[in-house]
Amino acid sequence: MSTSEPLRLAILISGRGSNMAAIARACAARDINAVVDVVIADRPGAGGLDIARGFGIPTAVVRWQSLDDRDAAERLLTQMLDAYRPDVIVLAGFMRILSPQFVERYAGHMLNIHPSLLPLYRGLRTHRRVLEAGDAHHGATVHFVTADLDGGPVVLQSRVPVIPGDTEAVVSDRVQKTEHMIYPRAIGWLADKRLTWRASQPWFDGKPLITPLVEDFRDPQN
Ligand code: GRF
Repeated sequence: MSTSEPLRLAILISGRGSNMAAIARACAARDINAVVDVVIADRPGAGGLDIARGFGIPTAVVRWQSLDDRDAAERLLTQMLDAYRPDVIVLAGFMRILSPQFVERYAGHMLNIHPSLLPLYRGLRTHRRVLEAGDAHHGATVHFVTADLDGGPVVLQSRVPVIPGDTEAVVSDRVQKTEHMIYPRAIGWLADKRLTWRASQPWFDGKPLITPLVEDFRDPQN
């Protein structure tokens, strides 16, 4: 077990928060040397808020829609984050596009998970687009957040097979199960300083991380 201070996380969500829950579980089980200081949602109805409270994690809401504009929402979010001073901001199904200024403020300290093998399928409806294209593989990507939407440096990807007859729901479930493994893993690497951010790029085990790390999940039951 690590003797260093745990990495302090603020997790931002919009929805059901299954990735947030996987990270909170990994922290609680001491699988990773991190602690979730706060979970912040962009709307009070985000299902993940109840899950966070169940873990005893403080929660907060920035009522994005009722605020005048993105600047006002981001000002409020910044105030909340300043109160907690997390080491890392974890976007986990946070469905807001953050301004370049906001992203720049936290450069190297903000991660996202995206449901595709980036750079393939940036944006929304990735599962449907993968099925429509007839791809043999799909997956999820943990990446650092930059002003380039879904375009920041990739850290770790999960790759799963797409099986003939798969529906969007089936393939989405298969990918999500892997998200719950790779997101805590990447955060654990940050906590252990195997993963760092220097000179505007990620480093892994002391070397620039040029080629993303890929984990294959061959068994669709995984
Ligand atoms: C995940 O599929 C993630 O890849 C995407 O949004 C979804 C969030 O799901 N960014 P959940 O709220 O963590 O269950």
